[in-house]
Amino acid sequence: MNRKQRAPSPQLFAGSASESKKTKSPLEVEASLQLSAGSFNGRLECAFDSARVTTPAFVVDEGLLRQNLRVFAEVKHRTGCRILLALKAFAMFSVFPLLREVLDGVCASSPHEARLGREEFGGEVHTFAAAYSESDILDLAGTTDHLVFNSFNQLTRFRGLALQTARSSGRNLQIGLRINPEHSEGAVPIYDPCAPGSRLGVRRRAFREDLLDQVTGLHWHNLCEQNADCLERTIGAVEASFGPFLDRMEYVNFGGGHHITREDYDRRLLIELINRFQDKWSTSVYLEPGEAVALNAGYLVSTVLDIVSADMDIAIIDSSVPAHMPDVLEMPYRPHIIGSGEPGEKSYTCRIGGLSCLAGDVAGEYSFDRPLQIGDRLVFTDMAIYTMVKTNTFNGVQLPGIYLYRPERDEMVSIRVFGYNDFKTRLS
Ligand SMILES: Cc1ncc(COP(=O)(O)O)c(C=O)c1O
Repeated sequence: MNRKQRAPSPQLFAGSASESKKTKSPLEVEASLQLSAGSFNGRLECAFDSARVTTPAFVVDEGLLRQNLRVFAEVKHRTGCRILLALKAFAMFSVFPLLREVLDGVCASSPHEARLGREEFGGEVHTFAAAYSESDILDLAGTTDHLVFNSFNQLTRFRGLALQTARSSGRNLQIGLRINPEHSEGAVPIYDPCAPGSRLGVRRRAFREDLLDQVTGLHWHNLCEQNADCLERTIGAVEASFGPFLDRMEYVNFGGGHHITREDYDRRLLIELINRFQDKWSTSVYLEPGEAVALNAGYLVSTVLDIVSADMDIAIIDSSVPAHMPDVLEMPYRPHIIGSGEPGEKSYTCRIGGLSCLAGDVAGEYSFDRPLQIGDRLVFTDMAIYTMVKTNTFNGVQLPGIYLYRPERDEMVSIRVFGYNDFKTRLS
């Protein structure tokens, strides 16, 4: 599936996360793994009135987050694996207490993310970066539980310092190593860590078996919005190259990119793969999804400020594509707007553009049942992931406020409002 052409969220596993920890009969499990077609999902609609927020605004629906969490709870229950939130995708720490009910901790990519995980999430903090400086190591030794190196150079240079620093403050630190399975599953090259020339992970030919006793876990990451069949082939590639080392590891981390909460994701296969791997190699498995945790659980609400006429009508909104949803340009992809159709599908077609100076600040072309008007609200879907963590203030544009919607109480909570100081304090 192409990035961002996402299927609806699943409505799975009736019952709470804690209920799912009870043993279920095979039939109950079978039922719980079935998808309910046509259920409410965050991709096509939203449960709240968009007029309730000050725009631009990110709104995360707690009910949709819970739906996703139930899926993870079931996978954990069926496998005993541990699941971490990849902070790079979603770091809205006001919902960490909720996520913590099911997820085991976070995976971080930097000292800052690791500290956020330590301070706000609790549980396990795993950190991986393509390279660390000495000051990174000193910092991470105080926040991280599992420090994953990207090369044997970095491992031999910093392992001692990291362990000694952690020990001196009474912390137990474990060391991991990222491998490169050299197995691509067709992701867009900039999102494919196994693309030719990738700097990510140690390849088999550079692997140092003589240093293996210095690490307790291996880690790989090669998927991007992919299904369990891609994981199955990846495991095959890893076993073919790194098989001799796997049963010497306390854990193996399958990375992120597993679109576990997507409707068409094959969760039965995932569960089977994890169980088989753990049994075969006497090790335990970690997953560290980012997207799947908050997939289809958030929105970006904007207001039409003006309609200008060019080759076609262009609605200019109080949001900016490069500043608020940069993946739309980076990927690129066309985000969905609630109530819209493809160009020409509905009676009024127009282009939607942002308010910055960038000529390419355009979300795409859409059709609507009636001409857009100044003041209309447009709600972009699937905007919780890789958005809040990537926003910038290019042109000094207003950062979207952050709201949490609680569907059971129909409550819209304003979590954070940004202003001039947030722009100014990043400059000097
Ligand atoms: C090492 C690592 N782990 C986890 C993730 C999270 O991936 P996703 O958000 O696609 O699940 C990424 C994404 O780039 C990653 O690089």
